[in-house]
Amino acid sequence: MSSPLSLAAVDGLRALTPGAQGTIHFNHAGASLPSLATLEAIQAQLWREATIGPIEAGAVGREHSERARLFAARLLNARPAEIAVTTGNSPGWGAAFAALGPWRPGERILVGRHEWGGNLATMRLAAQGAGAAIEVIPSDSCGTVDPRALEAMLDERVRLIALTWLPANGGLINPAAAIGRVARRHSIPYFIDAAQAVGQLPIDVVEAGCDILTGAGRKALRGPRGMGLLYVRQDFLSRLAPAFVDTRSAPLNASGDPILRNDAGRFESSEASLALHCGLANALREALEIGIDTIRARIDSIARTLRTQLADIPGVTVLDQGIERSGLVAFNVHGLDPLSVQRSLTAQGITIGSNGVGYTPLDMEFRGLKQIARASVSYLTTESEIGKLLEGIRALTR
Ligand SMILES: Cc1ncc(COP(=O)(O)O)c(C=O)c1O
Repeated sequence: MSSPLSLAAVDGLRALTPGAQGTIHFNHAGASLPSLATLEAIQAQLWREATIGPIEAGAVGREHSERARLFAARLLNARPAEIAVTTGNSPGWGAAFAALGPWRPGERILVGRHEWGGNLATMRLAAQGAGAAIEVIPSDSCGTVDPRALEAMLDERVRLIALTWLPANGGLINPAAAIGRVARRHSIPYFIDAAQAVGQLPIDVVEAGCDILTGAGRKALRGPRGMGLLYVRQDFLSRLAPAFVDTRSAPLNASGDPILRNDAGRFESSEASLALHCGLANALREALEIGIDTIRARIDSIARTLRTQLADIPGVTVLDQGIERSGLVAFNVHGLDPLSVQRSLTAQGITIGSNGVGYTPLDMEFRGLKQIARASVSYLTTESEIGKLLEGIRALTR
């Protein structure tokens, strides 16, 4: 067991986070607050680029990029060669999906009810044109995707199972490893969208049984915007033909034939913001140093406190599902639309999210929700911040 994060340690980490000084931030699931060291890592590379030349500074930048790959591999229990550093969750997910190749009439894609809207759009574009079907795996009574229901749906036409591990709206944690065991038993490709999970939950890609897993740098990891991670299981690589390549992912050999990289780097571009890679490497290092079990325990405890106290406010409904829950807390205030809740809190220096149907369309439609307010926590979140958020919300209900 890892040791819990002491309040003194939280204070210390906050002191090294510029954003924690002025803002009461409850939008860590949108994008969290980077540390000073992450900012400095980005600035140092930009400075090197400006002073010795951007291309000339590339060697140092690439070293940081390789560190990011090593750290990400450690965080996910993957091999470094299985990690691509991307520009966001969706670019990695979409590139892997496109690399599956064309869809044929009658083929089936099975998705969880909480699938990220962008992934759904990507799948629908491909499936609609081809006459393939996208079907929703039933959830259990708590709202989590049901592995047994998945197993009952399988036949030889299922070519992909897609799961969003921690939905953007709704607070639950899907049983990714149980779904993975079904996928493995039937040898069906399995994609996990872990945009909200990377940096928040302990992740073991082997235990999760996935072929593809994607994460975002700017959320629980506290990395810079415009960064993402793509895990590709080594033995799955040969099934993926990237939709496009460049001089890095598939250099031409002496005969002019493209030689596709034999690692996840086939999904990387030759041109990259190496300054952001430097920042991502630092954010990953910090997450590993704090310890992902420690991070998870702290987020779990602080989110429980928030949920319980929110639910006690008359006129507030907590809209989270599931038994095991994440640091994303969805709620509504009776008689107020979430956007105005968000705006009123912003005016008090408190940031939250306000999300429509687009992020988790299947689940929002299933639950008859049009918009939710979302307060998302980090291990940086303090009880005092929770107190101020609750006070702000109480004032709105009066
Ligand atoms: C579950 C989930 N998947 C995907 C995304 C999109 O990530 P990106 O903007 O990095 O493409 C988000 C963003 O909030 C998300 O919550």
